[in-house]
Amino acid sequence: MELDLRALPARDAYNWLSSLITPRPIAWVSTIDADGRSNLAPFSFFNGVTASPPTLLFVPVNLRDGSKKDTVLNLESVPECVVHIVPRALADQMNACAARLPHGESEFAAFGIEATPSRLVRPPRVAAAPAAFECRVRQIVPVGDGPLAAQVVIADILHLHVRDDVLGPAGEVDPARLDAVGRLGGEAYATTRDRFELERPDRRR
Ligand SMILES: Cc1cc2nc3c(=O)[nH]c(=O)nc-3n(C[C@H](O)[C@H](O)[C@H](O)COP(=O)(O)O)c2cc1C
Repeated sequence: MELDLRALPARDAYNWLSSLITPRPIAWVSTIDADGRSNLAPFSFFNGVTASPPTLLFVPVNLRDGSKKDTVLNLESVPECVVHIVPRALADQMNACAARLPHGESEFAAFGIEATPSRLVRPPRVAAAPAAFECRVRQIVPVGDGPLAAQVVIADILHLHVRDDVLGPAGEVDPARLDAVGRLGGEAYATTRDRFELERPDRRR
């Protein structure tokens, strides 16, 4: 099968992208609006950018009416966020946060998610998350116009929380203890419980 995604309805192009670029990590992002009301939403178009400077990106796309999501509106007025890693144990609460709530209504309160203050940024963080990046927005890069157009959020990582119980004996992150989930196409998810190792060619002697 050969496809020109540009010629397809955006929703169909999205389905091809999201079912082939897998598994995607999930950024569970807390923000606040100008009145300090919190918001929490998941984004699986998410990755690290570089370690120097420590940066990450995630990609909220516009709603069907072409308007920006609450996360982007909040970041435009308070350019700070906390990006949480989602373990299997928090997947249901993460998924609940994809519901559209009226602007200003907090997913923390609506879905019983315990919040705790962050150290360097104003949005709260999810107390139970195994890892949380406190970030300041560096740039929001628009890609396209209208429905499904993207606002690529590039953010500097100011502080990282990692729960001690996800670390192994040498202080490294143990993937089994982190138990992060990834998103596949549609409503499917993957865990990180099956693993194998490959030695990098440039490390072979
Ligand atoms: C696992 C998962 C991944 C998602 N990834 C994205 C994404 O990458 N970009 C996006 O715009 N919406 C994504 N969504 C949908 C948003 O979470 C949803 O639109 C949410 O209501 C946005 O919240 P906000 O309006 O408070 O910013 C995802 C939903 C789920 C459950």
